[in-house]
Amino acid sequence: MLDTKNKQRLYELARARIRDLIAGEMDLIAIMATVAGELYHSFDYFDWAGFYRVVAPGLLKIGPYQGPHGCLTISFDRGVCGAAARLRRTQIVPDVTQFPGYIACSAATQSEIVVPVLSPAGDLLAVLDVDSDQLNAFDEIDAANLEEICKMVGAAGRRDAAS
Ligand code: SME
Repeated sequence: MLDTKNKQRLYELARARIRDLIAGEMDLIAIMATVAGELYHSFDYFDWAGFYRVVAPGLLKIGPYQGPHGCLTISFDRGVCGAAARLRRTQIVPDVTQFPGYIACSAATQSEIVVPVLSPAGDLLAVLDVDSDQLNAFDEIDAANLEEICKMVGAAGRRDAAS
């Protein structure tokens, strides 16, 4: 497991790369695809990284991701993704077997973090889901950094609306 200092340093490098890569980009899917790729390849303890998009009231549909296939549709009343969408709050699950209603997409996943993506106006656009094959892989450093990354993604919601 990474120590706190090294984890934060890796996140700072990943955030800087993502900021440069998406600068000026207007397309939300292009941004999500870039973020999923950067995150998945930056951290050894990530075994799935990607987005579920809000496509109708109470309904998430899979978006750009890296890793083994994920389930295609999740309603807000199911799973960790549904909880993050419904509550609009980051969910850290140290042990997925202890989460009621957990949706198992991969038998390898042991812990998970899901972060909401909000537009600057406060509309829920998507959630970012990151899974790990290690128990208790995610902490407040992951939450704070992934929330900053989701703010960069959410800012595209405003650019889309303006275009
Ligand atoms: N485990 C998630 C579903 C998505 S996959 O992990 C890719 C959940 O419970 O919401």
